[in-house]
Amino acid sequence: MAESMVGLKRTCRCAELSEQNIGQTVTVMGWVAKQRNKGGVVFVDLRDRSGIVQLIYEESDCGPENFAKAERMRAEFVVAAVGKVVAREAVNPNLKTGGIEVRVESTRILSESETPPFHITENSNTKEELRLKYRSLDLRRPDMQRYLMLRSQIVQEMRDFMAKEGFLEIETPILCKSTPEGARDYLVPSRVHPGSFYALPQSPQLFKQLLMCSGFDRYFQIAKCFRDEDLRADRQPEFTQADMELSFVDVDDVIDVNERLLQHVMKTTMGIDLEIPLPRMKWVDAMNQYGSDKPDTRFDMKLVDVTDVVGDCGFGVFADAAKAKGCSVRGINVKGQAGMARKKIDALVTFAKGYGAKGLPYIQLKEDGSVKCSFAKFMTEEEIAALVSALRGEKGDLLLIAADQDKIVWNVLGALRLKLGEEMGLIDHSKFNFLWVVEFPLLEWSEEENRFVAMHHPFTMPMEEDWPKIDSDPGSVRAKAYDIVLNGVELGGGSVRIHQNDIQEKMFEVIGLTHEEAEEKFGFLLTAFKYGVPPHAGLAYGLDRIVMLLSGADSIREVIAFPKNKDAADLMCGAPDVVDPVQLEELHIRETQVDQETHSDEETQ
Ligand code: AMO
Repeated sequence: MAESMVGLKRTCRCAELSEQNIGQTVTVMGWVAKQRNKGGVVFVDLRDRSGIVQLIYEESDCGPENFAKAERMRAEFVVAAVGKVVAREAVNPNLKTGGIEVRVESTRILSESETPPFHITENSNTKEELRLKYRSLDLRRPDMQRYLMLRSQIVQEMRDFMAKEGFLEIETPILCKSTPEGARDYLVPSRVHPGSFYALPQSPQLFKQLLMCSGFDRYFQIAKCFRDEDLRADRQPEFTQADMELSFVDVDDVIDVNERLLQHVMKTTMGIDLEIPLPRMKWVDAMNQYGSDKPDTRFDMKLVDVTDVVGDCGFGVFADAAKAKGCSVRGINVKGQAGMARKKIDALVTFAKGYGAKGLPYIQLKEDGSVKCSFAKFMTEEEIAALVSALRGEKGDLLLIAADQDKIVWNVLGALRLKLGEEMGLIDHSKFNFLWVVEFPLLEWSEEENRFVAMHHPFTMPMEEDWPKIDSDPGSVRAKAYDIVLNGVELGGGSVRIHQNDIQEKMFEVIGLTHEEAEEKFGFLLTAFKYGVPPHAGLAYGLDRIVMLLSGADSIREVIAFPKNKDAADLMCGAPDVVDPVQLEELHIRETQVDQETHSDEETQ
């Protein structure tokens, strides 16, 4: 029978007790992590969010009634215990409270528990599906508690810092019109306006720009964002941004305040001194050296451009790529892996094909001095030697080469570099390598749409010195856009915004947006821009990603209290779900055929 806690008051959390409390009478409450009945004495590990303390029940201290309760206690019962803190005979060095225990004088069972579907422990091997279904139990695990406590602390420190820097926290709507971040929208049907829909915000982008027009100057928000896109370890349909916008600033001002913000958060939450200014890398260098716009700089294995070396060689794959526009030949040197088994190399070839490669030419510089080259019959020994030398190949190295359109070459080698770096243990997981990637291209060619699209969003300011090339060579125009990257993950991104009408109109024209379309989509912003716009810029962090990287979790699902699974479903509540036909009727929605097939998007990185 569950008892009430009337007349009891918790005096502290379990693991707040220490040797300093010896001799004091305390009242603790929490969950039974473990109960051991040693005959005449019962030990209970009591757990709350602070950790565990050992309770000891002996009939001589607590009387038969309380002792009987202790004997009945099972895992996950919620209990209260009043007792004296005493020094422990056998000290447990693995426990924060290992030097003490509470000798119980009276106890209550506040709530009983059925046998839980899995054991509540650190680093559980329980299937994620089961964990998500019983999320409230899963969140009791010490690592999950640590993650969410760290998350709370990070948010708190961000808020503190931003407030001191003069940022105002202003909320923006959740029911709004579509925002231009490029993913699919989540839509909410309107009851009052039949046939019309709200869109959930993909980010507060346009609203924060409007707040700048209103003169608020410095805005900050912990904002919920919604994007219906393919999910993976660092993507959720519903996620949180730490979002900001500043007036009368340029790139360096945004970077400066954010470096100090990151420095503050790293110091206060992790005790780490982050050296600033952080390194900056141009987008083009990031792609050329790492094959990625979010380079993991914790290890080397950089890409090397060998286009010029193989331009005239006899191997058509290389020679053709070397001559074609927008194509190149590049390689990576996988040190010490020349002895890689054929099967493993074949697996790398398959992996590369998954990233768009047609094949993966390779050279093994064997330890015995022999050379195995997968394209040897097409090239002379001298040509191969020149290639090896360009890739700084030495005895024992494995050289992997990609020849294709730049985009494919970067993707393939960038992905191989990460995979091999991880497999070969080249990544120092204790490092926090922050990096700004700057000078992104303004536009990106879309094969599907056969037109340029904005790489960031259509309000991103071009670099002044490149703007004259907007008609002659739009692809070469760089933007005042920047991403903050940590250990190969894009933590956040932002840009300086266009505040001049003529540039904005030209931008719309280049991305093929007519006056009418722009007016229809962003009319409210364009209207606001007619009445005096301050130059402004901003940035948004993926808060979930920050917490994931600082806590060492391997997915953002671990640091979100109630996440969706990879199919965008909430396994605990059972959302999404069918609704009452009456609700649909009120919303003027008629169901057509429901396609039961669900789409599970494979992890692509
Ligand atoms: P962007 O689209 O780059 O920029 O988003 C900013 C940051 O949000 C995080 N993020 C996500 N996190 C989890 N799940 C997702 N599905 C997801 N999508 C994005 C990333 C990303 O860097 N309005 C602009 C910012 C600006 O220009 O100020 C924006 O939203 O960490």
